[in-house]
Amino acid sequence: MEYSKVITIICLIFVGDSRGQAADFQTFPDGFLIGAASASYQIEGAWNVSGKGESVWDYAFHNMLKQVSDDSNGDIACDSYHKYKEDVQWIRDIGFDHYRLSLSWPRILPNGSKDRVNLDGIRYYRNLLEELKAANVTTVVSLYHWDHPEVLEEIGGWTNEVMVERFEDYAKVVFDNLGYLVDIFVTINEPEMLCFDEPVNSSEATARGLANDVASYLCVHNALKAHAKVWHMYDENYRATQGGIIGLLPVCRGWVSGDGVTEESIERYFQFGCGLVLHPIYKGDYSEIVKTTLADIDVYRNRSFSSLPVFTDEWVKMIKGTNDYFGLNHYTSRIPVMEYGARTSDSGVLEIRDKSWPITVLDRLEVVPEGFGNLLRKIRDEYDNPPVYILENGFADSGEILDYGRINYHYDYLSELLTAIIHDGCNVKAYTIWSLLDNFEWDRGYSISFGIVKVDFTSPNRTRSEKLSTRWWKEVIRTRTLIKPPAPGSTSSWGGCFECDLTNDKS
Ligand SMILES: *[C@@H]1O[C@H](CO)[C@@H](O)[C@H](O)[C@H]1NC(C)=O
Ligand SMILES: *[C@@H]1O[C@H](CO)[C@@H](O)[C@H](O)[C@H]1NC(C)=O
Ligand SMILES: *[C@@H]1O[C@H](CO)[C@@H](O)[C@H](O)[C@H]1NC(C)=O
Ligand SMILES: *[C@@H]1O[C@H](CO)[C@@H](O)[C@H](O)[C@H]1NC(C)=O
Ligand SMILES: *[C@@H]1O[C@H](CO)[C@@H](O)[C@H](O)[C@H]1NC(C)=O
Ligand SMILES: *[C@@H]1O[C@H](CO)[C@@H](O)[C@H](O)[C@H]1NC(C)=O
Repeated sequence: MEYSKVITIICLIFVGDSRGQAADFQTFPDGFLIGAASASYQIEGAWNVSGKGESVWDYAFHNMLKQVSDDSNGDIACDSYHKYKEDVQWIRDIGFDHYRLSLSWPRILPNGSKDRVNLDGIRYYRNLLEELKAANVTTVVSLYHWDHPEVLEEIGGWTNEVMVERFEDYAKVVFDNLGYLVDIFVTINEPEMLCFDEPVNSSEATARGLANDVASYLCVHNALKAHAKVWHMYDENYRATQGGIIGLLPVCRGWVSGDGVTEESIERYFQFGCGLVLHPIYKGDYSEIVKTTLADIDVYRNRSFSSLPVFTDEWVKMIKGTNDYFGLNHYTSRIPVMEYGARTSDSGVLEIRDKSWPITVLDRLEVVPEGFGNLLRKIRDEYDNPPVYILENGFADSGEILDYGRINYHYDYLSELLTAIIHDGCNVKAYTIWSLLDNFEWDRGYSISFGIVKVDFTSPNRTRSEKLSTRWWKEVIRTRTLIKPPAPGSTSSWGGCFECDLTNDKS
């Protein structure tokens, strides 16, 4: 987007408005992409068809290693393996510019070895991607969204450096067979969630959990190496012919100010948060604040080795510069304050939640749009204003059809985003809703919903249907403007009948 256009939009929209409280609608910049996201284990089902191998999740759930609040699993999920054409029809009807999906590693390499490629897996993804291309939908493909082959978990998963090589093998098979259909690649989704999930039966991301902090830092270390190797492979051998872009996808929390928040507390919170994986990519190596803090903790714990593995100079160089774009998942914020006395976190920062923040059914995800804006401005300043692709942002509820909470969430977060672009010059290129469909939400099973399309999990058909947010998004995308959420029971400001044929009875 050229700068002159930005200036024009500022003048049109912000005359007489204070920051963050724009007019009734705001216009998205030219070329801004709006899309929706999903992930293989959460939607595909078909866990054991046509040569697919067992994933770490299949094994954990079938062997009762992990608890789900409604005792469900992803064996069938949304059955998108069989219903992908219908999914693409929804994407097309709503009008999304792009769709983000992930590939199931064991559907492609059942045993994690490149010597056995499962052709049915390749066929499935080729059909899906071709269907999207035929609908002019930009394709965003995550190589890895937490579901690796179980056989690799049995040798230690991401704590074993062998994963780096296995991930390269897998990526090569994907680039060779599917790369020509992919516009934007994500290497690894949310390495922080993957590596710092609490052990056993915890929130999400890991089927088995990691033993302790040493395992967590090893996991991050190997994930960064795997990402960098695959970025270089794409850059050297595929980019010229396939023309895509590729990057890592961290999840970053935002923050807001409050009592006890200092420059240092924000910096520690950020560098120990998504900065942990971003510093090596944008600046080279882990940040000084992370290295020195963890070294101090090692001394305090009488550890004779470093909890944070050390990159050789060669690896520092290999990892630096391996993001074609700044991918960002974001949901919520905290108030970071320095810890005094006994330390409970590696960062030395307490992450406070304000009781006045609106909560959601997922208790760690309070609604704090202001923190999103602070985060976007920090990314602008810290990493030299890279092109930012928001690849997840969304709201959990109990599956209401009249999902005003979801519409309000997207409206408030998008208002912050547009302010960051238009007022603050942040270079944000895309926004992606988590999620297209209600789906299998890890430890919460099907008991909570993120989808803007409803899925009936009691029907063998996994019937999809509209929610109120489906209609709102259609109108936002059609008009390329951020439309104010309607009040419950009202007719829409654009003259349509907003709630027609929709009631909460169906939920
Ligand atoms: C696949 O798993 C289902 C249970 O989810 C089972 O009923 C079915 O027999 C299995 N199919 C094969 C081919 O193993
Ligand atoms: C994976 O390898 C194991 C052991 O070699 C074998 O028993 C199993 O059938 C293989 N699974 C698949 C899906 O190929
Ligand atoms: C985790 O969940 C499983 C299955 O419900 C249960 O058997 C196990 O005891 C739990 N482990 C812990 C540490 O809570
Ligand atoms: C896709 O875009 C091409 C070129 O702009 C256009 O000719 C075609 O009709 C579009 N197809 C669909 C399904 O929108
Ligand atoms: C470290 O070692 C010292 C000396 O043996 C001991 O007093 C201290 O409690 C140890 N610290 C921890 C955290 O174990
Ligand atoms: C499932 O879908 C089929 C074909 O669309 C339809 O005939 C059938 O009635 C549906 N069944 C249920 C339970 O919704």
